[in-house]
Amino acid sequence: MIKTKKLYQQVADDFRDLIANGDFQPGEKIPSIRSIAKQRKISIATVQRSLEELELRGLIEAKPKSGFYVKMQANPRSAVEATLLPMVPKSVEIHEFASHIFHQCDSPDIVNLGTTYPSLKYFPEKYIQQFASKVIRHNINDVVEVHFSPGQMKLRQVLSKRLNQMGCRVTADDLIITNGCLEGLSLCLRAVAKPGDTIAIESPGFVGLFQLIESLGYKAIEIPCHPVEGMSLEALELALEQWPIKAVALVPTFSNPLGTNMPEKNRMRLVELLADKEVPLIEDDLLGDLSFDGSRTRPCKAFDKKGLVLYCSSASKTVASGLRIGWLAPGAYYKEVSYFKTFTNISAPNITQLTIAEFFKSGKYDRYLRQFTGALAKRMYQFQQAIEKYFPQGTRMSQPQGGCILWVALPKNFSGLAVFEAAIKSGIAIVPGQLSSATSKFDHCIRLNCACDPEIDIDSVIQKLAAIIESTQLQSN
Ligand SMILES: Cc1ncc(COP(=O)(O)O)c(C=O)c1O
Repeated sequence: MIKTKKLYQQVADDFRDLIANGDFQPGEKIPSIRSIAKQRKISIATVQRSLEELELRGLIEAKPKSGFYVKMQANPRSAVEATLLPMVPKSVEIHEFASHIFHQCDSPDIVNLGTTYPSLKYFPEKYIQQFASKVIRHNINDVVEVHFSPGQMKLRQVLSKRLNQMGCRVTADDLIITNGCLEGLSLCLRAVAKPGDTIAIESPGFVGLFQLIESLGYKAIEIPCHPVEGMSLEALELALEQWPIKAVALVPTFSNPLGTNMPEKNRMRLVELLADKEVPLIEDDLLGDLSFDGSRTRPCKAFDKKGLVLYCSSASKTVASGLRIGWLAPGAYYKEVSYFKTFTNISAPNITQLTIAEFFKSGKYDRYLRQFTGALAKRMYQFQQAIEKYFPQGTRMSQPQGGCILWVALPKNFSGLAVFEAAIKSGIAIVPGQLSSATSKFDHCIRLNCACDPEIDIDSVIQKLAAIIESTQLQSN
């Protein structure tokens, strides 16, 4: 269900953007509650609520008898530095390095802040058990019989209803069920381009997309991102004029790794810009359900008039990563995507498709989601507080309003890779910024998964990680 933002949230968002844009500097005093109320013609209570919200988001702090101030580390701009990169299509060679890193994250003795799947302790195991048993009891024929792509009608129906609630005009017949979002992205990339072609992606971007682009023999052109709004449309427009870009692939909602949420006005502009140039847009909306305040930014697909948006998502970050259920609405590319899906693996397993369909239909998913996102918001806040307390001076971090990924820019005399190597020896996995770009621009950054095991004491893990980080600086001096 789409929930529009309450007035206090809109005001909080405005201030967040002003802080991100540097209109309010770290340490600067925020105007008084009374003057904001007067200037915006809103009630004192609304302003108070929005300032509380900003405080909760870690952007401002109250000083007794003095008012509210922008926190010293609140400006996420330098966590990203939205300068224009020299944008040139490049072959990607990241897979071997990425596998080496991820292999080490995935060990039982490691505190895994690296890979970005939520800990299984967050997942609704009770419901999965309940609905999987129901499916086996009542639909055993559907479970055992092979069904060719596009996937179970029951699931496609419930998904199309959800997508329509988000403003996307799709029917069950427009959807294809996949084995996770990554397969969806792969099928879409195969449908829109061929080896040697160039795909525009976010910078820093999702490592899985880099790996897919490499596996298909495509080139990537990295488009710089704004710290709050995501992909820079000006930079994209420039790149589209200069290079034969075959498609754009991006994660507009709570992006990986920046956590940005592209505003709807930008999504609309992006879809129009690409429609004008007949360039397809592959939209990865995997994290779209994970907003902390329950609001749902409409996907780019909602603004698609020409069928040029290929929408992909999955249940991997919301229900269970191991069920491997994803879905896509490939618009005008339905035929090509369906062909590739059938001749890749025929279909996704019936039992998992039907289990997810029952869960979504039951109404219990939305209730569970509220609890889950509430827990994620709290966890992310704990991470941010601990990072602020222990990490080296000059550290900057992102301020996501949903999802589970935190992007941390260390001062430039640190290397994400050196931190990874030292941390893994001490039993902590992080992902170095080197995996998020083929340029060296984010080498001093690290990515953290805040949805790690909820039983881990974050304060002590971050304190330990901070000491490791400091030690890597000593080594490089
Ligand atoms: C942005 C993004 N897209 C896609 C995926 C892969 O999703 P799935 O497990 O559903 O294939 C991930 C996994 O981390 C991700 O972060």
